[in-house]
Amino acid sequence: MIKNTHPDFEVLLHHGNATKSGELVRLVEAAGLGFSESSDQLHLDEKLVPLTVEQIRAVANRYIDEELLPEITIYRSVDSTNDEALAALRQPGTGHYLMLAEMQTAGKGRRGRHWVSPFGRNVYLSYCRFLQRPLSDIGGLSLIAGMQAVEVLRQLGVEEVGLKWPNDLLFEGGKLGGILVELKPAEARGIGIVVGIGINLSMSGADVSAIDQAWSHVGNRVIDRNELIGRLLAGLSASIDHFDRHGFSAFKTAWQEYNLTAGQPIRIIRGEEAFIGIDRGIDEIGNLLLEREDGTLESHNSGEVSMRPLT
Ligand code: BTN
Repeated sequence: MIKNTHPDFEVLLHHGNATKSGELVRLVEAAGLGFSESSDQLHLDEKLVPLTVEQIRAVANRYIDEELLPEITIYRSVDSTNDEALAALRQPGTGHYLMLAEMQTAGKGRRGRHWVSPFGRNVYLSYCRFLQRPLSDIGGLSLIAGMQAVEVLRQLGVEEVGLKWPNDLLFEGGKLGGILVELKPAEARGIGIVVGIGINLSMSGADVSAIDQAWSHVGNRVIDRNELIGRLLAGLSASIDHFDRHGFSAFKTAWQEYNLTAGQPIRIIRGEEAFIGIDRGIDEIGNLLLEREDGTLESHNSGEVSMRPLT
């Protein structure tokens, strides 16, 4: 299902030009897209490849069965896909949905940050469902999502991408993407989880000036977003299903293949305190294992600390 759009806007997105109208100009301007006008036509300056439910489902179906796939909604514009997913979990129903957006007007990052979300270039998705695991296990979810995102980017040729614990996607020293997991308190259907993923595939100079941390994107490579999202959806559905049935332990060893600071000196920051040691991976529930100078192994929870590489 496509939401927050107009038939003429759909024609424009798919063909690059459409019959001009006041409403169409308003939508194109709100999307921040460059355009020109000729007689009764409006033309986009840049050709876009819009997200489509059909292509995403077809790609995901190559990897997993149709019945394991969630209902997919694509918003041409929305405040935040995570907020839409949380609202959907409050309604009766399966709760198994994928919310996608071409742009977000109030994209949310971790620690209350704004997630810069320009139109048609990046990935903004929220995958939601109900899980039966206890709340104490849920921390591992964001690591699973990060591993799936890195796996798909590597499959599509972005081999140098990796993770900084717990779930920052890094590429060429900057942040390429991030994960924001939000929860709906447990009820009869289980714990409602929303796994929000943002990946910067291509940012313009104007978008970048709004980001307040080191950032990166894969601008000079052409990545088909429908292909990326379809593969990511299949990976998320299968791995979160496995997590729900069997817990996090199967993902513990895989972590070190994606962890960019594996075996390296790192600094853990907890409020005013800092601890230095070697990154020894994660434990059974996704806490970071820090080896101190005296050889002791400490476990740190992502909700309480942040981590920086030392080199
Ligand atoms: C982070 O700060 O690292 C997490 C960023 C998460 C951004 C994504 S984009 C899709 C989803 N909707 C949101 O509002 N946020 C997440």
